[in-house]
Amino acid sequence: MSTPSVFANVVQAPEDSILGVTVAYNKDSSPIKLNLGVGAYRTEEGKPLVLNVVRRAEQMLVNDQSRVKEYLPIIGLADFNKLSAKLIFGADSPAIQENRVTTVQCLSGTGSLRVGAEFLARHYHEKAIYIPQPTWGNHPKVFSIAGLSVKSYRYYDPTTRGLDFQGLLEDLGSAPSGAIVLLHACAHNPTGVDPTLEQWDQIRQLMRSKGLLPFFDSAYQGFASGSLDADAQPIRMFVADGGECLAAQSYAKNMGLYGERVGAFSIVCKAADVASRVESQLKLVIRPMYSNPPIHGASIVATILKDRDMYNEWTVELKAMADRIINMRQQLFDALKAKGTPGDWSHIIKQIGMFTFTGLNTNQVAFMTKEYHIYMTSDGRISMAGLSSRTIPHLADAIHAATSVA
Ligand code: LMR
Repeated sequence: MSTPSVFANVVQAPEDSILGVTVAYNKDSSPIKLNLGVGAYRTEEGKPLVLNVVRRAEQMLVNDQSRVKEYLPIIGLADFNKLSAKLIFGADSPAIQENRVTTVQCLSGTGSLRVGAEFLARHYHEKAIYIPQPTWGNHPKVFSIAGLSVKSYRYYDPTTRGLDFQGLLEDLGSAPSGAIVLLHACAHNPTGVDPTLEQWDQIRQLMRSKGLLPFFDSAYQGFASGSLDADAQPIRMFVADGGECLAAQSYAKNMGLYGERVGAFSIVCKAADVASRVESQLKLVIRPMYSNPPIHGASIVATILKDRDMYNEWTVELKAMADRIINMRQQLFDALKAKGTPGDWSHIIKQIGMFTFTGLNTNQVAFMTKEYHIYMTSDGRISMAGLSSRTIPHLADAIHAATSVA
């Protein structure tokens, strides 16, 4: 008789609140099933999209016989890091010109946040990090596992389905001096609600006056407005005042490189010598975690960002994705209005970015999954990027039924 497993006491863990939705969707055999859970762009035909410019860059890389598969340095591809910093902070950023920025290639947005969190836990005096309520489900896990102490600040007001700006100012105003504050650079996930530029400036002033440390999560640059520069404005405002800040960048959505896991983590410091010491410590964070990052995705990004023609082609394809999402918002809103679905659905067209925070409750979501095979996170978030003109009537029917019965 064999002895019981040494892991016999391991308990079954719940599925991830976002990626678990895809697991459930994959098990459903209904032909009408629809996955609006994970934030991943789909075409009008409901298919994943590889951008033409990405295909072109990959072709060039494959054809270049001089390319090898050697290890990258611990902090990744140098060109990729420089170009990523320019993309987020602006080509003419004084912080970059003064060598006050250190940028390291990481494993997409999540890996960038994680490296940043580890660095802060080791080298920053204040362990409290304030995250918006609500926020991306992985944020609290990434920060707490690194040893930071996660607190929240008010962000979303369910009654207006907009920003709770007063609550936000009050909560940041009473945070301990020096606390870290996680800010979504644009297209807040899950709510699709962003501060205006005037509000951003008020947030900046308050944070600087209290010495709070901004940590931007930029997962959707270009996906919110269709413009890379406009979407980076809030971060650039904070950098322009000469103060310090951290930023995590992802190329998952804006270049459609989800599975390539390509992103960057930057720290803007007050002086070049500090930035260089910070970089030396980031290497010590990265090396025992995954040694050094993968080469392929970063090479695609660097190829596109350094070639004017390819960069322009990217911006056109990016804008087309952003515009299609905006169009889906209008179509869904019109469909619900035409049906006379109870409630005010104007937030669908007011919110921006990949997601709509519908206001549907857990029971209504469960009803829509059971009766209509529509999959979404239980907080009522839907990925607008997963919709098409063909599937909107089905979603509108489901929302109509859910708000009438549940
Ligand atoms: C999402 O919120 O759906 C995306 O950021 C994907 C993920 O990793 O959760």
